[in-house]
Amino acid sequence: MMGFLSRLFPKRAPAVLDARPTDAAALAAVHAASFRHGWSEPEFERLLADRSVIAQAARAEGGRGRITGFILSRLAADEAEILTVAVVPAERGRGLASDLVRRHLSRLAALGVARVFLEVEEGNRPALRLYSRAGFGEVGQRKGYYPRAAGAAAALVLRRDLG
Ligand SMILES: CC(C)(COP(=O)(O)OP(=O)(O)OC[C@H]1O[C@@H](n2cnc3c(N)ncnc32)[C@H](O)[C@@H]1OP(=O)(O)O)[C@@H](O)C(=O)NCCC(=O)NCCS
Repeated sequence: MMGFLSRLFPKRAPAVLDARPTDAAALAAVHAASFRHGWSEPEFERLLADRSVIAQAARAEGGRGRITGFILSRLAADEAEILTVAVVPAERGRGLASDLVRRHLSRLAALGVARVFLEVEEGNRPALRLYSRAGFGEVGQRKGYYPRAAGAAAALVLRRDLG
């Protein structure tokens, strides 16, 4: 029966759309499932209302379903900083973050952004793989950036030029 139904109604791929201030709760939930220190719903409301912030979210079922991942960056002159990328645990490893990063970079390029920066914790292998596949290279390190019970971890500063 399930096979018949899924052939009749194949699962539609997620769609990547702009995030709106009304998506703040959904983004906070995805963030909380992805990081030790989640950002609150009011923090996301502020970010999504900020005109220098570009936020795109992946919505299941071709855009009609729930938000399963997002990417968010802040613009300043011709530079952008990716503040966060996250995908809910159940949807990881299927190329969703790669798709979000690719679409986000083309969006930023269309807005005239020339350089994109981000910080990632050393040892975050999925994220490092994601960014190196997207053309980012390491340009610096911030030692002791992420506090840890067993010794602080460094942040790697990555950069990718657009255009
Ligand atoms: C990092 C994250 C966004 C990746 O999302 P995703 O949808 O699973 O990523 P993709 O499926 O597009 O995979 C991207 C690359 O990472 C690799 N990867 C995914 N999970 C991995 C893992 N657990 N270990 C090693 N590599 C992994 C993939 O193989 C892929 O590389 P490939 O193209 O060479 O095969 C997701 O793991 C996440 O939300 N993590 C918690 C939040 C976080 O750390 N965000 C980034 C820091 S801001």
